[in-house]
Amino acid sequence: MEHYDWKDAYNTGIRELDSQHEYLFALTNRLLRQRENPNRAHVKGILDELYEYTEQHFAYEESLMEQSLYDDLLDHKKLHIRLKERLSLYSVEVAKGKLSVDDLCEFMKIWLINHILRQDFHFAEQVKNKKDT
Ligand SMILES: [Fe+2]
Repeated sequence: MEHYDWKDAYNTGIRELDSQHEYLFALTNRLLRQRENPNRAHVKGILDELYEYTEQHFAYEESLMEQSLYDDLLDHKKLHIRLKERLSLYSVEVAKGKLSVDDLCEFMKIWLINHILRQDFHFAEQVKNKKDT
């Protein structure tokens, strides 16, 4: 796999949320380009940015959920915490050469798609419905 394509089907219809998700995809692609001849410093830089951006994105998402009194907020937050834990653990493993850049990108891509299509779609529907009422 050369590149992970962003698809229309991943859009929740909340523009800011979708552009943040798309940027997470772009960062994962930037990391993916490092997999042939990984440059330690570049990989670390991208992983740091990926972690920081993920944190900001989750904070944004959670504030949206709080504003709309989303009923699954606690469970959704737990999933965010777990991803952050995994991401920092895997980043250490990549730095130690125990995990390949490829495998980390694959994990991130699959996590993003599943999370967007299941959890984020669910809450986006509720946010949009609240706005209509
Ligand atoms: Fe989420």
